[in-house]
Amino acid sequence: MSAEKSVQVKQLTKKFGGFVAVDAVSFEIPKGEIFGLLGPNGAGKTTTMRMLCGILKPTSGEAHILGYDVVSQTEQVKQRIGYMSQKFSLYNDLTVSENLDFYANLYGVQSRQNLKLRLAELIELSGLRGHENQLTRDLSGAWRQRLALACAIVHEPPMLFLDEPTAGVDPVSRREFWEMIYTLAGRGVSVLATTHYMDEAEFCNFIGMMYKSRLIALNDPDSLKDEMPGVLFEVDCHEPSRAEKILKKHPAVQDVAAHGVILHVLLSNENEKGVLEKILQSNKITVDRIERVLPSLEDVFVSLVNKENRQKLRTEID
Ligand SMILES: Nc1ncnc2c1ncn2[C@@H]1O[C@H](COP(=O)(O)OP(=O)(O)O)[C@@H](O)[C@H]1O
Ligand SMILES: [Mg+2]
Repeated sequence: MSAEKSVQVKQLTKKFGGFVAVDAVSFEIPKGEIFGLLGPNGAGKTTTMRMLCGILKPTSGEAHILGYDVVSQTEQVKQRIGYMSQKFSLYNDLTVSENLDFYANLYGVQSRQNLKLRLAELIELSGLRGHENQLTRDLSGAWRQRLALACAIVHEPPMLFLDEPTAGVDPVSRREFWEMIYTLAGRGVSVLATTHYMDEAEFCNFIGMMYKSRLIALNDPDSLKDEMPGVLFEVDCHEPSRAEKILKKHPAVQDVAAHGVILHVLLSNENEKGVLEKILQSNKITVDRIERVLPSLEDVFVSLVNKENRQKLRTEID
């Protein structure tokens, strides 16, 4: 197994009874890169991550973390990873320092001298200087997340697994959290993070999009956008929900997604802008603006999911 890859996953599958929660997923993460596993709730992200951390045994397929097999070398894997689960628990009645100290003991950080330096470094990294003696229960959600991350890396793991680390945290704090992840990646730490925030995926070097237990796309954010077929238009018009219904039914329109009151409409080429204007005009919908835009990762995901569902429908009909 290549040591240049932090993660190598081949045909990884997990079944719970007859239900396939992770279906033949394959991907690799080079060392020091940030990989985002993206997908809606229930897609299979946590199950995938738990298999990679050696917590859950795969039904079939294989996975290596830093060259170690997650099934036969579970202990070697566990020693080298940091894992911040969705329910990562901090002790509310302990202070910031005491929580770090607790996890340092748990992870067997030995010498007191090392420990002192390490804790100071983590306080610095998480931006919690001056709050060392504050009770954890009094911290804001965003600070708790940063403390949780600091606790998860107290033993300096070269590989970090973060399961929805920023769920429920506001966008500004999410950005700060990602700054912390960048700092770690800059020091050579490899990161696999799951998220259902599509905008957050922009922070990752590579993205795997998961949908209904399968990996439906794998690439860097820019390539994913470039690969998206068709041309995307942003439509600002009156009665957007009626417009959405009408456009969805029109054969010239490949996809429509509502972003608040703005519609994102996918057409096969630039020249069809006129068609779009005509459809809305003939339905007496006033258009304020139609503009070509670059797709967001959310657009890419919606487009891929629609394609998946159309293919599924077709095979069901055949
Ligand atoms: N221990 C389990 N037993 C049965 N089904 C499970 C178990 N864990 C997860 N699942 C199911 O597997 C699917 C994927 O779950 P999960 O990996 O948690 O998705 P995600 O993290 O993307 O939200 C869900 O339908 C979930 O209900
Ligand atoms: Mg999950």
